[in-house]
Amino acid sequence: MESCHLLLVLIATLIVWLNQLPANASQMGLRALVTEITQDPTSLLYTFEIQQRTPLQIQRLVLDIEQDYMWVRCDKKSYRSSTYSPLACSAQLCKSYVYSGCGTCYGSRAPGCNNDTCVVPGLGSDSFELAQDITVLPSSDGSNPGPLASFPNLLFACATKEYLSDLPRGTASVAGMSSSTLAMPTQLSAAAGFGRKFVICPGGIAGLYTLVTSLSGIISRTSLIKNPVYSSAFHIGVERIEVGGFRLPIDSEKLRIDERGRGGTKLSTVAPYTQLATPIYDSLMGVFTSMLRQMNSLRVASVAPFGACFDSSGVATSSLGPNGYQTSGFQPTRVGFSVPTINLVMQGNSSPVWSIVGANSRVGIYDSVVCLGFVDAGEDPVASIVIGTFQMENNLVQFDLATWTFGFSNSLLYAQTTCSDFNFTTSL
Ligand SMILES: *[C@@H]1O[C@H](CO)[C@@H](O)[C@H](O)[C@H]1NC(C)=O
Ligand SMILES: *[C@@H]1O[C@H](CO)[C@@H](O)[C@H](O)[C@H]1NC(C)=O
Repeated sequence: MESCHLLLVLIATLIVWLNQLPANASQMGLRALVTEITQDPTSLLYTFEIQQRTPLQIQRLVLDIEQDYMWVRCDKKSYRSSTYSPLACSAQLCKSYVYSGCGTCYGSRAPGCNNDTCVVPGLGSDSFELAQDITVLPSSDGSNPGPLASFPNLLFACATKEYLSDLPRGTASVAGMSSSTLAMPTQLSAAAGFGRKFVICPGGIAGLYTLVTSLSGIISRTSLIKNPVYSSAFHIGVERIEVGGFRLPIDSEKLRIDERGRGGTKLSTVAPYTQLATPIYDSLMGVFTSMLRQMNSLRVASVAPFGACFDSSGVATSSLGPNGYQTSGFQPTRVGFSVPTINLVMQGNSSPVWSIVGANSRVGIYDSVVCLGFVDAGEDPVASIVIGTFQMENNLVQFDLATWTFGFSNSLLYAQTTCSDFNFTTSL
């Protein structure tokens, strides 16, 4: 957690990179946008930079796959740009979004306060103006970083400072990455002419491993699932969970989304650790605890937010390394202590399996205390499972909005690479 994590987001399809680009793909012949993402050490949120406005200013955004549009702090004092333009109510983009409305503002005219402007709801009764402005992101030609790519009219919602008050220090914006027509993946791919696809690859252990030349063999795929009520959420169909080969006794109804939009498995880039409904959490902790007891690892007092922590001195003769995976003593492996692997078995013909290895399941707190990196979400949370970023580290996860498919690499530690090592000419 404390180590320097790299996260690459690329918004393109590598299929498009490798095959012919349509002639009108973009003014620049863009193949991809690639940007580095870092983890805020306090909030554990992932953030990345864009440049925006005239004159250009650097803005740091929180990555949130569940937001329908980019949020930008946009009150009078903080937003200055000669190219700001509010989105008219009559614009097709405004009409394309089911929750949009037409706003009148009684304050003095400024960014965020214009008449006959498309507005979107915030929390409660607030609504915020949609606007467009110049936005610049780094491109890639497929193997090397390319020039900066300028998007003259990238859409965002103008929010107040109060509305965005929870953001980590140094950030004033949120990158909305849902499948909405207003969100960044659709907006950027429409402007540049490439596919509606993005990849997130959090984590990285710099310098230890060599490049892999092909990742195609290690990407598994499953369908993304729409939630009938919470339409911005990305769900996947986990059918069962196995720990060290043992199937957890879970009510399978909890793993499905009901007509009220509750249940099922959601993906989140703002949850640092996977959250489990209490019955699933208890079941996982019970199995883990008994398996670790057999390895002479005793349960010790919990360290918040975790509910199950163990004395690791029984299973390791030295402390965890800086990345929490390096150890000596009991069966040191590249992927962590030999704690049981947690397999999420997904729906699909081939029953693809997302394997959560030790490096993604346990968090080292002190030298001799290791906690399971899952949190109890209460008896009846909206989603039964929310997969958080810690469990995605050293995985490459791909959201293909055109085919509505989720791709995942499983731990890249096995592939002896890291997210910062990608050769973008290889195919995903
Ligand atoms: C918007 O229109 C209302 C009523 O027509 C007017 O009172 C208000 O000043 C206008 N607001 C702006 C920002 O022009
Ligand atoms: C990336 O892969 C391509 C195709 O396999 C290869 O030609 C190129 O040399 C690789 N680049 C690096 C930096 O390894």
